[in-house]
Amino acid sequence: MSELSVNHLLGIKYLNKQDIQLIFETADHFKEVINRPIKKVPSLRDITIANLFFENSTRTKLSFELAEKRLSADVLNFSSAQSSVKKGETLIDTVNNILSMKVDMVVMRHPNPGAGVFLSKHVNASIINAGDGAHEHPTQALLDSYSIREKLGGVKGKKVVIVGDILHSRVALSNIFALQLQGAEVMVCGPKTLLPKYIDKLGVKVETDLRKALNWCDVANMLRVQNERMDISYFPSTREYTQQFGVTKDLLNSLDKEITIMHPGPINRGVEITSDVADSDQAIILDQVQNGVAVRMAVIYLLASKIKQ
Ligand code: CP
Repeated sequence: MSELSVNHLLGIKYLNKQDIQLIFETADHFKEVINRPIKKVPSLRDITIANLFFENSTRTKLSFELAEKRLSADVLNFSSAQSSVKKGETLIDTVNNILSMKVDMVVMRHPNPGAGVFLSKHVNASIINAGDGAHEHPTQALLDSYSIREKLGGVKGKKVVIVGDILHSRVALSNIFALQLQGAEVMVCGPKTLLPKYIDKLGVKVETDLRKALNWCDVANMLRVQNERMDISYFPSTREYTQQFGVTKDLLNSLDKEITIMHPGPINRGVEITSDVADSDQAIILDQVQNGVAVRMAVIYLLASKIKQ
C-alpha cells in the first residue's frame, strides 16, 4: 500500500492497520533524513500549511512546525489568543479566511471534541487533528507507538498500561485505538473517578492498583492529571494521588522486571512521575518528542500526496 485510506487525520479510529504501517515506514525514512547534516527535503515546496492553535501547546505546535519546515512547506502559524476570534469570529469564518490565502492543509488544536471532524465537513482543505478536547490526539498516539516499536522491536503482543487521568485524556483514547489496531494488550490504571464509565466497552483491562499494573506491563505511559478540564475534585488531594498513582524509582526497582516509561508531556514532576524516573534510562520521554517530528513529517507528506493527485 502506498497511500493512506483517509484524506484527513481526524483520529486513530478512522485509520486501519495498513495506514499505521505506512506512516511508520515513511517516518523511518524521515528519521534518517533529520539525522543528516542537511535535515531538509524539497518534497512539499508547493504546499502551504496553517497551524491553528486554539489551546496551549509546546511539543505538538513546535513539532508540526519543524516537520513542515523540514519538508520545505510554507508555514502559517495562528494562535487564537492574538486573533480576531477574540472579536467574535467563528471557527469556519476564521478558517475560510485563512484558506482564501491559498492554504492547502490545516493542523488544528481545539478545546472542543469533534472540532476537526466539523471543520473537515465545512472547508476545502486537508485537516490534521492536533488534539481536540478530551477526544483524540492521533499524532501523539502514532509517535507513542512508533517509540515503542523502536525501543522494543514491535508493538504486537506488547503489554501497555496507561496510567492516570484517563477520563480527560485524548492521549489515552488515541493510544488505546492505536495499540489495539497493532495487536498490543492495553490496560488502564487510575482512580475509579478518573476512569470513564464506558471504559469496559473499549476492550481494555482495568486496574486500580499501580503496583499490579506495573508488574503486568512492558510499557507504562504516565499521564498528567488534567486540572484544567476539571470542574470538581476527583480525588482528595494531590499528595494522596501521588501516593497511589505516582511512579517513583523505588517502586520501579521493586518490580520483577525492568519496564519502559513513557509520558506525552507536559510532566508534573513529583506528581505522576518523580524526576529520577523521568530522567532515567528507563524513560523514553525525549525519544518520543524526537520521533514526533519524523512521524508528523510522514503524516503531512502522505496527506499532501493525496492533495496533489
Ligand atoms: N503532548 C502534547 O500534546 O504536548 P503539548 O500540549 O505541549 O503539545
